[in-house]
Amino acid sequence: MATQLQDSFDVGGVMLDRPFKIRRLGHFGFYANDMAASLKFYRDLLGFQITDVLDFAGRANDPKDLEGKGDTNGYFMRYGTDHHAFVLFPYRVRKAIDYNDTMADGATMNQITWQVGSLEEVRHATDWFSEMGVQYGRTGRDLPGSNWHVYPVDPEGRVNELFYGIEQIGWNGLSKPQNMYDQKFMKPPEIPYIREAEEVRRAVEAGIDMSVGTNSLEQAEASYDVGGVLLPRPFKITGIGPVRLFTDNMEETLAFYMDRLGFVVTESIDWNGEACHFLRCGNDHHALALYPMGLRAELGLTDWSSNFSFGVRMNDYQQLKAAIAWLAEQGAEIRYFPPELFPGMNYTAFAIDPDGHAIQLYYYMEQIGWDGRPSPADQRPLIDNDNWPETLEPCSDSFAGEQFMGPWG
Ligand SMILES: [Fe+2]
Repeated sequence: MATQLQDSFDVGGVMLDRPFKIRRLGHFGFYANDMAASLKFYRDLLGFQITDVLDFAGRANDPKDLEGKGDTNGYFMRYGTDHHAFVLFPYRVRKAIDYNDTMADGATMNQITWQVGSLEEVRHATDWFSEMGVQYGRTGRDLPGSNWHVYPVDPEGRVNELFYGIEQIGWNGLSKPQNMYDQKFMKPPEIPYIREAEEVRRAVEAGIDMSVGTNSLEQAEASYDVGGVLLPRPFKITGIGPVRLFTDNMEETLAFYMDRLGFVVTESIDWNGEACHFLRCGNDHHALALYPMGLRAELGLTDWSSNFSFGVRMNDYQQLKAAIAWLAEQGAEIRYFPPELFPGMNYTAFAIDPDGHAIQLYYYMEQIGWDGRPSPADQRPLIDNDNWPETLEPCSDSFAGEQFMGPWG
């Protein structure tokens, strides 16, 4: 039980300013206009594997509302064992059934999702958001992924999510059977709640066939030697990375992510007289970065979105270079932006998705230690985007940070 004591909360025995602690980016979702083109980009080119499909057609008040709007499915995808790390939802369909007009202009991200430490933290975060006047869309649990969550919305209408306990996909690639849960969870969890093992036991006892979930093992031909394993493409995504946002109101947006969600500013830079902020939730130099909206046009990014980029981490520098070359060969647009905009990230490039969203390809993220201080700028390598070296000198934290568990394909 979180006990409030002089505005501080007991989170697992440690007193914090809020009743939860974000540990890492868990997943992230974009809306797309052309689902087939976006699936080609995220599934076939980047290699995300589909773990479940959710049809939004049933949510229309009238089937006519969806006429001409294209594929009504949303796609949940993984690169590792989390049921989903990336989600692709159909923009035109979601817009057509957004009867309460909740989708903010520019919020082309359907979720920016952060893992907290326990189910209790989700529950207490929900109560606290209510108390603090933080707007949240809903709370409960969604069945593709079966994680408990609450969806706080930032001041510009972007939907964040805090969650506990996302479904894990194992060696056989199967997601949970869709009929494993016989109820919808539209409320905050009553805690304490039964463990997953008990849910599985009850489902088996009820005669649910445990072998009918979606199989997400990739079947494409695999002819590239990637670190000694044959894969369908010359790289493997082994992490997801920072989310970059453009904001029209830096002060208010920064205050939301710091005061309400608990992010800490690692570093700020000046860009043409305006501040850009880099915020962390763990050891990564930043998991979230905020930039002034004016930068968007300067970089030539789409004015459809207030997202600057979503990161996907390659296993190493060699794979990063191979990924850039291969994605370009496959027809993806690759872009480079001034390295000063990405402190702590070393070499990085961007692949542009069919809607103009930028996907940041990277392999390294500076690690922040006990004193919370980033590396002095003059001790970082000088990045020349026109001349990426063949190999790199190591940094003190090369290969450090979150590790990928398990085999690559
Ligand atoms: Fe989610």
